[in-house]
Amino acid sequence: MKKNVTGVVVGSLNMDLIVTGESIPKPGETVSANHFITIPGGKGANQAVACANLGATIRMVGRVGDDNFGKELKKSLSLNNIDNSFVLVDKKTSTGVALISVDKDGENSISAVYGANMSFPKKQLEAAKESLNGADFLLLQNEVPVELNISIAKYAKSKNIPVFWDPAPSNDESIGIMEFCSYLTPNSIEAEKITGLSIKTPEQAVQACEAISRSYPEVIPLITLNKEGVAVSFDSNAKIIKGFEVDVIDTIGAGDAFIAGLAISIAEGNDFINACNFANASAALSVTKQGAQTAMPNRNNVEDFLRTFIKF
Ligand code: RIB
Repeated sequence: MKKNVTGVVVGSLNMDLIVTGESIPKPGETVSANHFITIPGGKGANQAVACANLGATIRMVGRVGDDNFGKELKKSLSLNNIDNSFVLVDKKTSTGVALISVDKDGENSISAVYGANMSFPKKQLEAAKESLNGADFLLLQNEVPVELNISIAKYAKSKNIPVFWDPAPSNDESIGIMEFCSYLTPNSIEAEKITGLSIKTPEQAVQACEAISRSYPEVIPLITLNKEGVAVSFDSNAKIIKGFEVDVIDTIGAGDAFIAGLAISIAEGNDFINACNFANASAALSVTKQGAQTAMPNRNNVEDFLRTFIKF
């Protein structure tokens, strides 16, 4: 079993502006909320923090603007022991921001303006390639330019570095990443876009996993289903691996905590089912606190939690 794995996250850094209230406003509706907070986020940076908390050595590749949010986001990475030297500062575009509404049940909706995350000068790809030296895994999401994701996924595959891809938010052009991807972790909305199938039940999620496996036999699909757990298709066997019931504060970082736990556990050499349990536990714990980066559990939290649920 390998310990001290090293990972690279190529992805987004956003400042999350989070409003918590009774309900998320519908189109045309104004609601009164009761709490506002600003917390470092972005799917890429959240995944980097989650991986670092779980014990991996992490390098983050991304872009921020030359502004206060950008400085805070880079600082948040270094406070979490992440190498942020591959996070470049864009003089012309502002740092990404995400407006997040959270309701009384912890559900959320997000509108993001990606700003500097979406600039793609050639040196960004060079930085990403350099960061992969000696890496055990690469994590990608859909909040940076598709061309960057496809190019770095292709490069990682050429170096036998497994690519874990969270295809969020959905984006039709990004499907080109599949050719270079080892593990795919959509939620059910993203999986519906990928497969064209309706996913309203865990059984339908299992069928969607089978459909993905038929179209992309080299990719292992894992469709995340919140407290239901995750639908997977692995070794010609599609099924649900159950999740954990916890008291939910908000679910903002759950998908990020899941893919981080999965990547680390697989990179350490654990078998697939154990890796899914570890990822489910990481996601479950992340929803018991507010925000994304602020809610990521550490290694001891996850191992203690698993010990109470799973008798080895
Ligand atoms: O996955 C959660 C993240 O999505 C938030 O932190 C927000 O920044 C958006 O990118």
